Amino acid sequence: MTDIAVLISGNGSNLQAIIDAVEGGQLPRTHVAVVVSDRADAFGLQRAQRHGIPAIHFPYPARSQGRQARENADRELAALLEQYGVQWVVLAGWLRLLSNSFIQHFPSRVVNLHPALPGQFPGLEAIARAFAAYKAGQIRETGVMVHVVPDEAVDAGPVIAVEHVLIQPDETLDTLTERIHQIEHRLLIQALVTLICDEGPGSRMSLNLQEREKELHNCSDPYYE
Ligand code: GRF
Repeated sequence: MTDIAVLISGNGSNLQAIIDAVEGGQLPRTHVAVVVSDRADAFGLQRAQRHGIPAIHFPYPARSQGRQARENADRELAALLEQYGVQWVVLAGWLRLLSNSFIQHFPSRVVNLHPALPGQFPGLEAIARAFAAYKAGQIRETGVMVHVVPDEAVDAGPVIAVEHVLIQPDETLDTLTERIHQIEHRLLIQALVTLICDEGPGSRMSLNLQEREKELHNCSDPYYE
């Protein structure tokens, strides 16, 4: 059995997709050991409680409190997850940037979901920014990706799963948002199955990850700065 933590900041619909996949057997040998939110009022905490999963509000320092405060918090957060025996950490709508103080506790085992294509619209409001870029004639498609978090770069790292979304002429921000969320719920599970259920030295995924790490380091996209 693999114990995972899911970190959220809000609604938690992707958390729900994970819980449903675990309970429905689509994500076998996986156990959601703990759900953590930086916001006390995140609806995702209630979703976790309803399924008997420990749901913890972890107040996270604001950027203005400085790097040291963030690193201390990250160490505390890592220690908390370790108490729950966590092996993998899934960032499913977690809107905080984790420092290396956290990531080094779970090397190549922090996974992030981003509602845009690799290298595009890193950070908050990715769907809205993609839609604005479409309206300005700059892009015709956007997408969803799931990637491993190797370092402090925002929404960047070895890509595990990606799906392109062609924006339609009659698309509104609402319809695009809805379509992207539907894809996220499916793609995240697909990526977790690949990562968690196909693990082990010499496995297809660990070899792929090494190759993808190389690709990342060769990547000269300005968003990765
Ligand atoms: C998702 O679109 C995720 O990709 C983004 O925030 C949203 C969270 O949605 N980072 P939810 O809380 O899982 O419903």
